[in-house]
Amino acid sequence: MTWQDFPKIELHLHHEGAAPPEFIRRLAQEKSVNLSGIFDDSGSYAFDDFPDFLRVYEAAASVLGSPDDYARLTAEILARLAGHGVIYAETFVSPDFCGGGDVSAWREYLHAMTEAAAQAEAAHGIVWRGVVTCVRHFGPYRSRAAARCAAETAGQGIVGFGMGGNETMGRQGDFAWAFDCAREAGLGLTTHAGEFCGADSVRQALDDLRVDRIGHGVRVVEDPALMDRLAASGVVLELCPGSNLALGLYPDMRAHPIDRLRRAGVRVTVNTDDPPFFHTTMTDEFAALELAFGWGEEDFADITSTALRAAFCDDVTRDTLKERLAAGHPALAARFSPDRMKTDVFNPDLLR
Ligand code: ADE
Ligand code: ZN
Repeated sequence: MTWQDFPKIELHLHHEGAAPPEFIRRLAQEKSVNLSGIFDDSGSYAFDDFPDFLRVYEAAASVLGSPDDYARLTAEILARLAGHGVIYAETFVSPDFCGGGDVSAWREYLHAMTEAAAQAEAAHGIVWRGVVTCVRHFGPYRSRAAARCAAETAGQGIVGFGMGGNETMGRQGDFAWAFDCAREAGLGLTTHAGEFCGADSVRQALDDLRVDRIGHGVRVVEDPALMDRLAASGVVLELCPGSNLALGLYPDMRAHPIDRLRRAGVRVTVNTDDPPFFHTTMTDEFAALELAFGWGEEDFADITSTALRAAFCDDVTRDTLKERLAAGHPALAARFSPDRMKTDVFNPDLLR
């Protein structure tokens, strides 16, 4: 069996980071922009380390200049995800790249994305929601504009607010105004933490931003007491193992802490982050986890159940997705059976 058909939920995917290099090259050609510096000889994105990755990412994103470009990108991303069994995806969308933080420009970009997503849902059955993200290295001032865009469009395809970008710049708490604004608008909250900074950045995310989910968070394993706190909090990690390997955090999948985190009772999900940059897909992630840790259908049903609960969508959508997951695979049907749900108190001992 291949994992390709296993029904999946993806919660951590950057919209521009999901753009295939050939898509960006075509757009660059159409606009007569020279982007040759960001590709290697085989046509893949080329970068050396995390700061260089961010440079290449932003250069690629710079050719996405209109709502129509984002509509085309949305169609491309969702068709690809659906091909890997993803039935629900939340992507990170940044008003900084979509209209420069101006609310009316942002509305036009969002409208284009939601129209493309509706067509993708009709064609492939995949449901899309957006998580507006501010970019950390653009600073707290610009994060406020991003939060205003998020708050103004909450519920119009937008279900959450988050932060990506260079984690080594400033502190999480510098962005508290933006997260408070988004919380007041009823949005779910997530931030990148514990990827390039240590466990303390996860503590800051919990204390200063009071997020529901954390992007990556893997370095919490460096502080066992904090790892216990994270497990007890119910805050969910959006793990992206392939991304962590590609950016040099771990030498191989066996060294990745995903299995350790799960055994410690931390709620984890599996995601791709920026798949064409890291030469991965959701199918590849599942296959690599099976190979490294022997994870099977029950494990992936559990991971998918965690992702369903952690999704920022409304409960009507969640219930519909649950039915589709259950209909899509026997392990998911068992996971969501009424008997199992009744006893569904999260219990890490069951994993030991
Ligand atoms: N933006 C896109 N990918 C990212 C990552 N892995 N970490 C932080 N910001 C990002
Ligand atoms: Zn990310």
